[in-house]
Amino acid sequence: MSSIRRVSTGVPSLDKLIAGGIPEGFMVAAVGEPGTGKTVFSIHFANQGILEEGKVIYVTTEESRESIIRQAEMFGFDFSTAIKEGRMVIIDALMKGAEDPWSLQDLTVEALIDKIIEAKKYLGYGSARLVIDSMSAFWLDKPAMARKYSYQVKRTLYKWGFTILATSQYAITTEKGFGFGIEHVADGIIRFSRQIRNWRLERMMLVEKMRQTPHDLRVWIIDIRDKRGLALVRPAELTRGELYYGGAGDK
Ligand SMILES: Nc1ncnc2c1ncn2[C@@H]1O[C@H](COP(=O)(O)OP(=O)(O)OP(=O)(O)O)[C@@H](O)[C@H]1O
Ligand SMILES: [Mg+2]
Repeated sequence: MSSIRRVSTGVPSLDKLIAGGIPEGFMVAAVGEPGTGKTVFSIHFANQGILEEGKVIYVTTEESRESIIRQAEMFGFDFSTAIKEGRMVIIDALMKGAEDPWSLQDLTVEALIDKIIEAKKYLGYGSARLVIDSMSAFWLDKPAMARKYSYQVKRTLYKWGFTILATSQYAITTEKGFGFGIEHVADGIIRFSRQIRNWRLERMMLVEKMRQTPHDLRVWIIDIRDKRGLALVRPAELTRGELYYGGAGDK
């Protein structure tokens, strides 16, 4: 039996839930409502690639490149050096003019794929991590295209040796995806969510799907903390109306 190579997500407590990590070459979707931790998680995933001396491409559509670098810095991750050393490219689809070589002028899937391949050629040979945060930006005005676009990205980029993390946003009002479709194409789904409990915001994470993986099925309470980032805290089990404290977190 050939063993599956797995890559760490950059969140050790999550790796434990998915048999050590994401199978190399997978396209995993991180889905959820605003502010639930998708970008923070993407930053961990990207940073892990840098720590492992790999190449990283990060596409940002809702925040500027500088915003991603600053957010990473808050958790002690140094993206600036990785960029300077030619190990990371942040493709900015939002803020930059055409003079910026790593800006995306056109919010189309074709332009996205072309720019990613250009970045991969620049970074050079070898396996690489790719973050697309968010994929839903590419089908905002045409949600019916979600599945086709996701498939196009997965199929075209397959031969370039990426392990892909793509985020997808859920509408607050309906909690439905802006175009439900990436979920079927993705090899894995990590679902982020939130609730208000005792007048406090509580964030949660669930591995909804991970092909070829005996994964954990529980909802986990997550914590996003300054200087440290995202960690799993405990499973959100209800016992007589109380949260059950019994999980193994990162601490
Ligand atoms: N340094 C920090 N210390 C503590 N919490 C932080 C810090 N930085 C960010 N956060 C928390 O993370 C949240 C942002 O999470 P994130 O950007 O990952 O959400 P998202 O799921 O990507 O949302 P969206 O769909 O709007 O992009 C903030 O609202 C804040 O609560
Ligand atoms: Mg985000």
